[in-house]
Amino acid sequence: MSMTPAAAGPVRAAPARVTAKVLKGQKALVTGANSGIGRAAALALGEAGADVVVNYVVDDQAAEQVVAQIKSSGSDAYAHRADVSQESEVQGMFRDMMERFGTIDVLVNNAGLQRDAPFHEMTLAQWNTVIGINLTGQFLCAREAVREFLRRGVVESVSSAAGKIICMSSVHQVIPWGGHANYAASKGGIMMMMESLAQELAPHRIRVNSIAPGAIRTPINRTAWQTPEAYARLMTLIPYDRIGEPVDIARAAVWLASDDSDYVVGATLFVDGGMTLFPGFATGG
Ligand code: BGC
Repeated sequence: MSMTPAAAGPVRAAPARVTAKVLKGQKALVTGANSGIGRAAALALGEAGADVVVNYVVDDQAAEQVVAQIKSSGSDAYAHRADVSQESEVQGMFRDMMERFGTIDVLVNNAGLQRDAPFHEMTLAQWNTVIGINLTGQFLCAREAVREFLRRGVVESVSSAAGKIICMSSVHQVIPWGGHANYAASKGGIMMMMESLAQELAPHRIRVNSIAPGAIRTPINRTAWQTPEAYARLMTLIPYDRIGEPVDIARAAVWLASDDSDYVVGATLFVDGGMTLFPGFATGG
């Protein structure tokens, strides 16, 4: 006789399917996918078998180049220009995606920027731009994605979840950052938005998680790595002693989008070389 206690409700086993093309048959949208982390995530999702919408707001050429590279890896892709802070543009982008790809399985809420200033000099425009794109943009895109996830539900042959949202946060969702109050506030906001969404939507088998990158070699933080002096200063903050590369984040995004992470719900995956480990305490304290 089995010693396993009877389950109180329906039992769902973790999916066994693990292939190189872990996202085969899935449709993904990556915001801010023309450069940096978004670009790497879009390429990696494409390589893992997903068809990808490459969202961008400036630089059509860069976006088209990402599209071409995804197509050469065997997946479908197209570029869509939309400002994620504008409701009508976001809704237009999702309508277009429904027409062209039929649905959405994976949203990578990545678009983000910095408008740094000492706090007493920070303009309302700098504040609003950062909150508008980094936080409101994630809300607007997540809402449209969730509406489609709820409408369509789970398609077991595609994924064990009805949809996956990956919010691009930052180590600055927990590390305060002087001179960047707008940016840190936006990332702290993403943390609680993501966790609240994850809690609300898990019963619908929608998985919402975040990635919190540390210092990644992209245009947003060029001044932190482009000279040897700056790089050396940066390394005092990174126990693992190297800057992150966009592909470090892209690999985490593929995993969080795939059924390999089926039981991961409402988590923030720090991909930061140990930046959040209080490196100053390695020898002090
Ligand atoms: C910021 C970068 C910064 C990194 C670590 C990121 O979220 O966008 O400018 O280098 O955090 O401080």
